[in-house]
This record gives sequence, structure tokens and C-alpha cells, in this order.
Amino acid sequence: MANQSEKNIGALLGGAIAVFMIGIIGTCVLPFFDSSINTPTATAKLKNYLPNSAEARGRVVYIKEGCYWCHSQSVRPVKADSKLGPVSVPGDYYYDKIPLIMTQRTGPDLTWVGSRYSPEWQYEHLNNPQKFYNGSIMPKYNYLSEQDKKDLVAYLMSLKPAPAAKAGAAGR
Ligand code: HEC
Repeated sequence: MANQSEKNIGALLGGAIAVFMIGIIGTCVLPFFDSSINTPTATAKLKNYLPNSAEARGRVVYIKEGCYWCHSQSVRPVKADSKLGPVSVPGDYYYDKIPLIMTQRTGPDLTWVGSRYSPEWQYEHLNNPQKFYNGSIMPKYNYLSEQDKKDLVAYLMSLKPAPAAKAGAAGR
């Protein structure tokens, strides 16, 4: 025989709403009180681009061209990522109004790509990835305007850890 409370629609609804609210508070409200998310790191400050700077414009090109479909920007605390550089922390994304973390890694992770190559290499690689990697599936971006290419290179070169983060110092 069913318990009387199981038939009480008010109690069922109240319970469902309570569980839903716990979920909402846990995922949408509590993060506002988490200082590791709400404190920009030294690396985040480097990526706080001035409006209309080359880096800010390059970031728009990066989004428009869909580079993020193939490239992530997040170094995970796992062995496979250990050679990429410092592990990403939430505060690194403080100023990223559209965070470009992503999950797909058809191409390499670009979190710290600015410390791996010269601007000249970046420019040439964008124009013709196959020149450097035989059979690369990365599209040629030689159709972009010179301005867009220069801005995109400026953005890619800005993707590097702040000196404090590189040294592994606290407060990055
Ligand atoms: C279809 C998937 C794809 C897209 C889209 C794509 N890439 Fe790539 N990318 C790759 C692959 C695969 C590699 C590795 C081989 C190579 O370097 O060509 C790569 C390599 C790179 C590298 C060198 C990374 C390293 O550490 O060696 C950079 C920088 C890069 N891409 C930037 C970009 C930018 C900027 C865009 C957008 C304008 C873009 N990619 C779009 C697939 C892609």
C-alpha cells in the first residue's frame, strides 16, 4: 500500500523544486564566492587587452575563423599535458569574455603557444601550415587580409604565461 505522502502532489513538487534550486545555487551562485575564479592571475592581466588593440582584434579573428574547433586553450593537470607549460587555473580566464577553453584537440593546445614560436613563424604557418607539417589538416589562412593576419599573430604571441607563473611562484 502506497504511503500517503507519496500521493501528496504538493510535497512532490516542493521536493522537486528544492532539488532543482540546490543545483542552481551550486552551479550558478556559489562560483561568485570562489576567490580562485574571481581573482585575476598575473597571466590573466597580460590577456586583459586594450579595446581595439592588435591582440583584441586578433582574438576576434580567431573566433570568427573558428580556430577553437580544432584548438583548446586549457592545460590540464594530467601527465599528457605535462610538457605544455603551467597548468591552467580558473583565474587565468578572468578577462576572457568568451572563454576559449574548448575540449577538441584536433590540433595542439594553444594556451602557451606564444612562448613556442616567433611571430615570423606564426605568420608563415598561418599562410601555409603544410610548409611546416607535411599533410597538416589545418586550413591555409592565406585568404585573410594582411591586417587580420598581423592581428591574429599578435594574439597568438600574447598567449604565454606571466613570468611569475612560469617560475611556479604563488599568486600567479
Ligand atoms: C581543421 C582543424 C584546424 C583548424 C580549423 C585550425 N587548426 Fe591550427 N592546427 C591544426 C593541426 C592538426 C595542427 C598541427 C599541425 C600543424 O601545425 O600544421 C595545428 C597547428 C597549429 C599551430 C601550431 C601549434 C604548435 O604548438 O605546434 C598554431 C599556432 C595553430 N595551429 C593556429 C591556428 C589558428 C590561429 C587557427 C585559426 C585561424 C587554426 N590553427 C585553425 C588544426 C587546425
